[in-house]
Amino acid sequence: MELIEAIYQRRAIRDYTSAKVAASTLNELIDAALQAPSAMNHQPWAFAVFQGRPRLLEYSVRAKAHFLAMVLAPFGFHERGDTLTDPTYNIFYNASTLLVICARHEGLNPAEDCCLAAQNFMLAAHAAGLGTCPIGIARPWLNLPEVKEELGIPSDVAAVFPLTVGYPASLPAPTPRQAPDVLCWKNDNPDPAGP
Ligand SMILES: Cc1cc2nc3c(=O)[nH]c(=O)nc-3n(C[C@H](O)[C@H](O)[C@H](O)COP(=O)(O)O)c2cc1C
Repeated sequence: MELIEAIYQRRAIRDYTSAKVAASTLNELIDAALQAPSAMNHQPWAFAVFQGRPRLLEYSVRAKAHFLAMVLAPFGFHERGDTLTDPTYNIFYNASTLLVICARHEGLNPAEDCCLAAQNFMLAAHAAGLGTCPIGIARPWLNLPEVKEELGIPSDVAAVFPLTVGYPASLPAPTPRQAPDVLCWKNDNPDPAGP
C-alpha cells in the first residue's frame, strides 16, 4: 500500500472480529513504531500489551468508572447521557488487543515522541489489514499508581497512548476534516517558482 493511501484511508475502528492478533504481527508493527523520530533520538517509548477480550472488558468497566467519577464529574459532566454512562459500552469496542505506548521520563518531549510512534503503528497496522483506535478515555485509569503496579507498568513510566488493535468487522465512513487553519504564511519572495 502506498503511504499516502494509508494516510487517507486509516480510520478509527470501533468494531472488531474475534480473530486474534498474532504476537509476530504485533512485533512487526511495534518495529514500525520504533522508526518514528524522537527528540535527540532518545526513543523514550516502551510498550505494554494486553490481550484477551474478558481481560479488556474488565479493564473497560474499571477505566470507564474512573473516567466518569474522577475526570468528568469534577467538571459537572456526571449527568451526561452519552455512551459513557451506558453499562454495555465497552471502551475497547470488543477488541482483544490493547497496546499502551508508554513514555520513560527522559528526552525533551517523551509524550510527543510516543504519539509519533503511535501514528507509525496505526498506519502500519492499516497497511497490514488491521484496525486501530486510540483510547484516550483509558489513560487516566492506566496512570493510577495502583493500576500500573497491577498491570506491570513501572511507576516511573507514563501511559501516553492506549490503542486497540484487531481485525475490523466493519469499516466506518470517513470522518470529515476541516479546511486547514493557516494562521500565517510569510514569504519574502512571492514568486511561486521561487524559494
Ligand atoms: C489522543 C486521541 C484520543 C482518542 N480517544 C478516543 C477514545 O477514547 N475513544 C474513541 O472511540 N476514540 C478516540 N479517539 C479517536 C478519534 O475520535 C478519531 O481519531 C477521530 O474521530 C477521527 O476519526 P478517524 O480516526 O477515523 O479519522 C482518539 C483519538 C486521539 C488522537
